[in-house]
Amino acid sequence: MRMYDVITAKKRGAELTDEEIAFVVRGFTKGEIPDYQMSALLMAICLKGLSMRETSTLTMEMAKSGDMLDLSAIHGKKADKHSTGGVGDKTTLIVAPIVASLGVPVAKMSGRGLGHTGGTIDKLESIPGFQTTIPAEVFIRNVNEMKLAVAGQSANLAPADKKMYALRDVTATVDNISLIASSIMSKKLASGADVIVLDVKTGSGAFMKTFEDSAALAKAMVDIGNHCVRKTYAVITDMNQVLGRYVGNWLEVREAMEVLSGAGDEELTLVSVTLASYMLLGCGMAKNLAEASKMAREALADGSAWAKFREFVARQGGDVSVIDNPEKMPGTKLTVPVYATSDGFVGEINAEEVGMASLLLGGGREKKEDAVDPLVGIRVDKKVGDPVKVGEQLGILYANDEAKAEAAKERFLGAYRIVKTPVPPVAPIYGYVDEDGVHKA
Ligand code: URA
Repeated sequence: MRMYDVITAKKRGAELTDEEIAFVVRGFTKGEIPDYQMSALLMAICLKGLSMRETSTLTMEMAKSGDMLDLSAIHGKKADKHSTGGVGDKTTLIVAPIVASLGVPVAKMSGRGLGHTGGTIDKLESIPGFQTTIPAEVFIRNVNEMKLAVAGQSANLAPADKKMYALRDVTATVDNISLIASSIMSKKLASGADVIVLDVKTGSGAFMKTFEDSAALAKAMVDIGNHCVRKTYAVITDMNQVLGRYVGNWLEVREAMEVLSGAGDEELTLVSVTLASYMLLGCGMAKNLAEASKMAREALADGSAWAKFREFVARQGGDVSVIDNPEKMPGTKLTVPVYATSDGFVGEINAEEVGMASLLLGGGREKKEDAVDPLVGIRVDKKVGDPVKVGEQLGILYANDEAKAEAAKERFLGAYRIVKTPVPPVAPIYGYVDEDGVHKA
């Protein structure tokens, strides 16, 4: 088989065979197919597309290119969730303890933040002592004994995707739905869960800016998952503003703890409960979504989700006294209020810009190697639809450096669009995708 012929076939719009796709992924991972040929094929895929079968085969081949996590030693159906990346998205910290407290095993591999979006691993590591690198046997034992473990992604998880993504990034071939869907799902399939719930973000802070694009991506991922015999659902949620009120690693852990103790932000609670409900439904713990949602709400109200979070933190070496008394955490050197400069209503908050403001404070990383400051971040006081007056506080920056605070202030203020006419609040959930297709909320 020759790569030249595979490129030619796709350029002419032909469907590639499973053998051709396997040849490409394996050859590229081993370094036998050079970047220039792979780039040509990726561009042909962007222009001619991939069928459902081609996309599923590509996904499976990328998943198999490295370690496939063997979770067979864990009893019961295992559930996983994945977010396509949001600002202030701390739902994993809430969803995982909810479902684990109801008996669903969650063996989760998570990533670090990059660019304007945060990562669960950085958030958990803001808890003093918390370990995200744990031996495989401890990871499995924790899930069997207490239903929940979260670890950093192994370096050898879907290496074909890692190599392909690096090439797509510099050859203008990222924005193809089949390529994005197979990239995300290859890592999920390699992570071994039986049930996968995807939180597909839509809006200014998301990868996909419109409902239609998000729904198409969600549908492609759900189809791949179900085709590969994993029960898969997607929830399409808002990213036209920050989810909840806080951005920044420790600040987000605190906010998640408020929800876990039953008294948190209602929109964040709703998104978390919905994701948890699909995980419960997929694992057969509830007859329908309404019953699953009631179970998830009860786990928050009766303290069991909170108790599970506390147990999870203790198991992975975190300082539980800080969880019990969050005021024990040191504050930042500076707290900088940001005030509105015009009267009106909040028409839009560009979530990507808020994420960038937090990054400027030191809460995120531009390059993989950058260190993050766990304490810095932003509190968002005014959300879309809120009336504002000149001089009223839009939010607070928690900073450790004056120059960084100044740059972040500019960025945060620039994220707000204040308009003269009233604006309705933004709904946190736009739709759902299951094996029957896309349903608007
Ligand atoms: N996230 C991924 O993991 N892959 C993509 O292709 C896009 C976003």
